[in-house]
Amino acid sequence: MTPGSQWIEACAHPNIALVKYWGKLDVAANIPAVPSLSITLGGLQTRTRVRLSRDGKDHFLFEGRARPEMEQRVIGCLDELRRECGFSGAVEVESDNDFPTAAGLASSASGFAALVLAASTMMGGGLSREKMSELARRASGSAARSLLGGFVELSLHPGENPPTRTREILPASEWPLEVLIAITDSSAKSVSSTAGMELSRNTSPYYGAWVDSSAEDLRGAREAVLNRDFEALAEISEHSCLKMHALMLSTRPGLLYFKGATVGCLHLIRRLRAEGRPVFFTVDAGPQVKAVCLPEAVEEVREALAEVPGVLDILHSPLGEGAFLIET
Ligand code: PMV
Repeated sequence: MTPGSQWIEACAHPNIALVKYWGKLDVAANIPAVPSLSITLGGLQTRTRVRLSRDGKDHFLFEGRARPEMEQRVIGCLDELRRECGFSGAVEVESDNDFPTAAGLASSASGFAALVLAASTMMGGGLSREKMSELARRASGSAARSLLGGFVELSLHPGENPPTRTREILPASEWPLEVLIAITDSSAKSVSSTAGMELSRNTSPYYGAWVDSSAEDLRGAREAVLNRDFEALAEISEHSCLKMHALMLSTRPGLLYFKGATVGCLHLIRRLRAEGRPVFFTVDAGPQVKAVCLPEAVEEVREALAEVPGVLDILHSPLGEGAFLIET
């Protein structure tokens, strides 16, 4: 391949966990301490293009600018891919998101999923989706799930190789839920998830209970998805979300990701569901609220969220597919 000649481009969607991941079994190998279950959000995307570098060095541009704070993780991921694919060249990477970055919208998930697909294709590694997912997981735990679409489970297999496995348990078309994302603050988060997870493991008195109860949450959520049982999925998802935030709050110093408007949205969504509307909430390491709905509830939920003081914007997404290559 001639340096600088041909771009290879991939698209990946972010995902949101309904059974949450927080905490690492092994920081260096980036192995999660708990399993997780997510939905892939087809309406938001990261696009990443790669090509062989013209000057023999790796380069990374995010939204048109050099981003030194992100570069090390990107190069670390490229190094893993080079090893796996037996490739020795340097790579130019350009990546763009069409949604706010690092504000609890899982931008690292779609970012690393797109990077792994584009760069491993460029390196000619012929990697399976499972292998790509494994490599993405080493860069960002949640990224393993964005290689796949619809409802995705990440299970743990400590001591085995690989120690995690990712699989699509139901395609998006089989249960087309929709997600509204209430943006309550679009600035970047103050504590990174890796730092926050380690702080929780080292300081929260609840950490052991969190880890011990995670397999049961996964089992219940998987069953709810396979039975398309919205009420059961709502109950487990809100429980997992609130339990993760209880763990975060019990960390020292406490990790408080909610804004006032976040809490306002949670009360609203609970009231709407108590009144019979098919909607539940989930919140990640940021202040945005994701309202997961059956399609018939979307308009009403959107109007109600827009009335909550402090809600700045509302994004809407159907479920979507796993990462894919774009013909250039
Ligand atoms: O893999 P990371 O570093 O993006 O961490 C993800 C953590 C949460 O978004 C809070 C939960 C999850 O499972 O996605």
